[in-house]
Amino acid sequence: MKETTLILVTGATGKVGSEAVRQLAAQHHPVRALVRDPSRAPRGDVEVAIGDFDHPDTLDAAMRDVDTVLLVSPAVPAQEMAVIDAAVRHGVTHIVKVSSKASADSPVARRRGQARIEAHLEATGLAHTLLRPNAYLQNLLALAPMVSRTRSFPMSAGDGQVGMIDARDVAAAATAIVTAPSEHTGRTYWLTGPELITYTDVAKELTAALGHPVEYRRITPAEHRAAMIGAGVPETVADSNAQAFGLIAEGDAAWLSDDVKALTGETPCSLRTFLAEHIEAFS
Ligand SMILES: NC(=O)c1ccc[n+]([C@@H]2O[C@H](COP(=O)([O-])OP(=O)(O)OC[C@H]3O[C@@H](n4cnc5c(N)ncnc54)[C@H](OP(=O)(O)O)[C@@H]3O)[C@@H](O)[C@H]2O)c1
Repeated sequence: MKETTLILVTGATGKVGSEAVRQLAAQHHPVRALVRDPSRAPRGDVEVAIGDFDHPDTLDAAMRDVDTVLLVSPAVPAQEMAVIDAAVRHGVTHIVKVSSKASADSPVARRRGQARIEAHLEATGLAHTLLRPNAYLQNLLALAPMVSRTRSFPMSAGDGQVGMIDARDVAAAATAIVTAPSEHTGRTYWLTGPELITYTDVAKELTAALGHPVEYRRITPAEHRAAMIGAGVPETVADSNAQAFGLIAEGDAAWLSDDVKALTGETPCSLRTFLAEHIEAFS
């Protein structure tokens, strides 16, 4: 049974948050979107709270009368912990957290950070649900300008397979949970697309969709890190990304689950469909 509650979505201008807000509003659930830039606030039947993870007073204002929080952010521990603490102060009853393959002893700093956030959430005693999506198909869009310019893309994932998922499917799974949270208390869902994909597959699908060859140029994680920094990615993010791609090459992302279908009733988006929808960006 669906519960009528006010749902706060953080990261509401991001890949998952924006789509979750859109889906919740389309399903006529009361939803409040936390955004830091009013000019980027979602339109339509959505309440907007202007706030910043670094300013707890704005989080307090955003939490008023909220029952359930969909917590999405760049996963900086102090910021997410501030959101969790504000939720506790305001009597929020359930948090659905978008996490990743979190682990306290992961070589990837971002995953250790996620583990710290999860431990903090657990320690509050608040009812919660964790989502562990595989890598987002939307990450491929970062390759689009390079593919468009050079008909090739560099990547340090070797032949590693990835159960890539469309962020819109992550949002759909999150929407199913935040609208009936008590059914999902204490659960962890592993969210993936329908297939295991290598970057060779990406090059093949782009080749077919664009009608000209697209080459996957294999580089090392160290080369990848340097390229990301050269492109303006902050060093800590480049470090975690390069480490994550190195792990992908070793099979770390070669996992699939049926959780999206179980939660939403829909088969998640495939690589081919995703690229067909976004092909203009690559051409
Ligand atoms: N990318 C992947 O492949 C992948 C895979 C598995 C898990 N994840 C997890 O997914 C989460 C990221 O989700 P996403 O990709 O949907 O995020 P995203 O697209 O990067 O969006 C981040 C959101 O956070 C907002 N934000 C950033 N700093 C803020 C601040 N100080 N105050 C308020 N809002 C702030 C951004 O607002 P602005 O628009 O104003 O910047 C934006 O709405 C992370 O936990 C990550 O570990 C990602």
